[in-house]
Amino acid sequence: MEIKSVNEFEKHINRVLITAEEIGEAVKKAGKEISEEWDGRPLLLVSILKGSFVFLADLNRAITVPCEVGFMAAKSYFEGTESTGTVQITMDLAQDVSRYHVLIVEDIVDTGRTLSEVYKILKARGPLSIKVITLLDKPDRRLVDFDADKALFTIPDHFVIGYGLDLGEYYRNLPYIAEYKE
Ligand code: IMP
Ligand code: MG
Repeated sequence: MEIKSVNEFEKHINRVLITAEEIGEAVKKAGKEISEEWDGRPLLLVSILKGSFVFLADLNRAITVPCEVGFMAAKSYFEGTESTGTVQITMDLAQDVSRYHVLIVEDIVDTGRTLSEVYKILKARGPLSIKVITLLDKPDRRLVDFDADKALFTIPDHFVIGYGLDLGEYYRNLPYIAEYKE
């Protein structure tokens, strides 16, 4: 898949599902709640790349207490818009999590495979505590029994793009969440 022109790019944007303003409000509220919950404790936000980098950047700035950020990359293999079920950790976290309360920051929980793998791996390293926040939750698609502690938006079973989420590496730059159209 290669998209070169803005016409081709916009052709696949079906409709805006969550506006930039709605995302902004929800992120601000989540940042406030996190600041209250973790105040006084060493907090490490672990961003799962690449999808969560936009959410992480905004969430991090909505948090008013001291916190650190770390990055981990997980690749779930896709054929078009369907996950094939294979999850691979392609870049590991630099920090030793045993010194931190960990908050995993994810873009979307779809089948649940990626997060359940990442969660298992990080928990085994003995963090002081571990929780998960996701921007989006698609509960109808779940194949693995895994839920985030907090989901900002629950959406129906439709492939979405924007605000960090991609289709074939495109569309991460949209400031809103939109439905993808073939
Ligand atoms: P999982 O199926 O819960 O393991 O989700 C794996 C990854 O697939 C997520 O972290 C996203 O990067 C990607 N993904 C799942 N659903 C969507 C979608 O609707 N749009 C874009 N990416 C998605
Ligand atoms: Mg992705």
